[in-house]
Amino acid sequence: MTLRAYNLSAVPFIFLLFLGHLAKSQLDYRFYDSTCPNLTRIVRYSIWPVIANDTRMAASLLRLHFHDCIVNGCDGSVLLDPTSTSTGEKNARPNRNSARGFEVIDKVKADVEKVCPSTVSCTDILTLATNVALSLVGGPSYYIPLGRRDGVTASESAANSDIPSPFEPLKNITAKFTSKGLNLQDMVVLSGAHTIGFAHCSTFKERLFDFDNTGSPDPNLDTSLLSNLQSVCPNQASSDTNLAPLDPVTINKFDNIYYKNLMNKTGLLRSDQALMGDNTTAAMVFNYSKYPYLFSRDFGASMVKLGNVGILTGQDGEIRKNCRVVN
Ligand code: HEM
Ligand SMILES: *[C@@H]1O[C@H](CO)[C@@H](O)[C@H](O)[C@H]1NC(C)=O
Ligand SMILES: *[C@@H]1O[C@H](CO)[C@@H](O)[C@H](O)[C@H]1NC(C)=O
Ligand SMILES: *[C@@H]1O[C@H](CO)[C@@H](O)[C@H](O)[C@H]1NC(C)=O
Ligand SMILES: *[C@@H]1O[C@H](CO)[C@@H](O)[C@H](O)[C@H]1NC(C)=O
Ligand SMILES: *[C@@H]1O[C@H](CO)[C@@H](O)[C@H](O)[C@H]1NC(C)=O
Ligand SMILES: *[C@@H]1O[C@H](CO)[C@@H](O)[C@H](O)[C@H]1NC(C)=O
Repeated sequence: MTLRAYNLSAVPFIFLLFLGHLAKSQLDYRFYDSTCPNLTRIVRYSIWPVIANDTRMAASLLRLHFHDCIVNGCDGSVLLDPTSTSTGEKNARPNRNSARGFEVIDKVKADVEKVCPSTVSCTDILTLATNVALSLVGGPSYYIPLGRRDGVTASESAANSDIPSPFEPLKNITAKFTSKGLNLQDMVVLSGAHTIGFAHCSTFKERLFDFDNTGSPDPNLDTSLLSNLQSVCPNQASSDTNLAPLDPVTINKFDNIYYKNLMNKTGLLRSDQALMGDNTTAAMVFNYSKYPYLFSRDFGASMVKLGNVGILTGQDGEIRKNCRVVN
């Protein structure tokens, strides 16, 4: 009798918990509709002059968003400055001296805070700023659900281990994506991000002179691109910080030429060109080089997946006031 009464009252309670869980654990396309209805407008207004002044910033924001999400989920951790107890992700090998766009996120955050104080997380601002910036450089329009919250920690070691390196084999890179719930196709389509932006000579110079101790350049590098790159990156340490475009054909335009380049042996990073060294990924490269619409559609879908990795929602985490420090 007691047991039965208990069960009856527990049913609606559990049901409510379940509903609450659903409402809080998912992102929503209209998340800020009532709390910050002009959010997208504010972000567009804030980002437009930045991209007009420096087109590459679209690439830099995209990379920052990737590095945020692939390390302990999209939680704004990459944006945190070092503290006395944490060196932070900014110092990790893949980010140090190459991650850009922190001041841009500060500016967008400040513009949003003026209208909607303590409402929009820094990781949502980075996600949205990336989305807007890509649309300004010819990228696909895709709708992103919002409602992510900011984490309170940053990990240099997780950034070092989880962000793919251009020097590791395709198998290892694939594993880094699949461990985050992103599949082989997501990896190939998100690699299309390298249709914009630049890389330092240090990230591909090994291909230019003595590839894998063979005494010769990488045979999978087109000879005319090779000689251009050898002049941008002479064989001495002082050239390490020089830059070359990831897609030299249409440098800051977001298109599917990256994949045509790979078929042409004009991929810049060893890891880019490696997509041609596997029949499954090479078939996807061929598909995306041939069908720009397919690439746009799949890129948008994979960006939404990337933006869902390890998110904090509901009461978890916080809405950071300043993107560089926890509240
Ligand atoms: C597949 C494994 C990947 C590897 C090994 C890789 C590696 C790199 C490296 C070494 C650079 C040059 C950094 C520098 O020298 O400053 C770079 C730049 C870039 N990466 Fe990746 N990346 C990968 C995937 C991605 C993904 C998934 C995205 C976004 C969805 C992305 C977006 C970018 C962008 C846009 C740039 C140019 C940034 C700028 O110009 O500031 N990458 N990547
Ligand atoms: C949103 O922006 C429009 C145009 O700038 C403005 O008229 C409106 O008052 C804004 N709404 C809110 C809630 O800030
Ligand atoms: C414009 O972009 C350059 C980098 O290309 C940067 O140094 C400068 O601060 C930017 N100016 C403004 C007003 O954002
Ligand atoms: C690739 O991953 C394996 C383990 O799966 C590891 O032993 C190896 O060192 C990695 N290679 C590189 C170049 O990181
Ligand atoms: C392919 O390679 C040639 C030079 O080797 C280059 O001019 C061309 O722009 C490359 N890319 C595409 C998409 O054709
Ligand atoms: C990949 O394709 C090549 C050429 O079509 C073929 O010779 C090779 O056996 C294939 N490799 C695998 C692992 O399927
Ligand atoms: C190429 O695209 C078509 C159309 O979406 C798809 O059905 C097919 O599976 C794709 N092939 C590969 C190898 O991705």
